[in-house]
Amino acid sequence: MKVLVVYDSVYGNTEKIARTIGEAVTGDVKILHANDANPAELEGIDLLIAGAPTQAGRPTLAMQGFLKNVDENTVNGMSIASFDTRISAKWVGIFGYAAGKIGKNLKKRGGNLILPPEPFFVEGTEGPLKEGELERAAGWAKEIIKIKE
Ligand SMILES: Cc1cc2nc3c(=O)[nH]c(=O)nc-3n(C[C@H](O)[C@H](O)[C@H](O)COP(=O)(O)O)c2cc1C
Repeated sequence: MKVLVVYDSVYGNTEKIARTIGEAVTGDVKILHANDANPAELEGIDLLIAGAPTQAGRPTLAMQGFLKNVDENTVNGMSIASFDTRISAKWVGIFGYAAGKIGKNLKKRGGNLILPPEPFFVEGTEGPLKEGELERAAGWAKEIIKIKE
């Protein structure tokens, strides 16, 4: 199975989650920053996992740019999963969150969201990740693979 993990990260926390997910999934896995994930990288991918920091309730600009360039024909029918990092549930209630918007965007292009969008929590704007989040990310990735197999 060919897996692509695409992420953006300003302070490094989302990158840590993305790399942990990439290491936990089995198969032919590539981990790319959203700026490097040009549309050609999506060709032949069986599973796309995309994640970004939540900023003002949305994914960061690099992730928005990636999503904008995604070719509908490539994503149509592809298994997808989305995640984000964020501070607290309080903000989410007001502005929404990145993972949901990433998932919704890819779903709109025909992607098959195989698990609900997943949040991972940081202690503050620059991190660090809350205790146990890397382990949870690895578990989430394994759950995705189990569904896919
Ligand atoms: C400009 C800005 C806006 C933010 N807005 C939100 C928000 O709406 N909700 C939230 O939970 N966290 C918000 N945060 C916190 C980020 O989610 C946090 O910085 C991010 O998870 C860290 O990930 P990174 O290290 O990969 O950049 C914001 C941070 C910045 C810098």
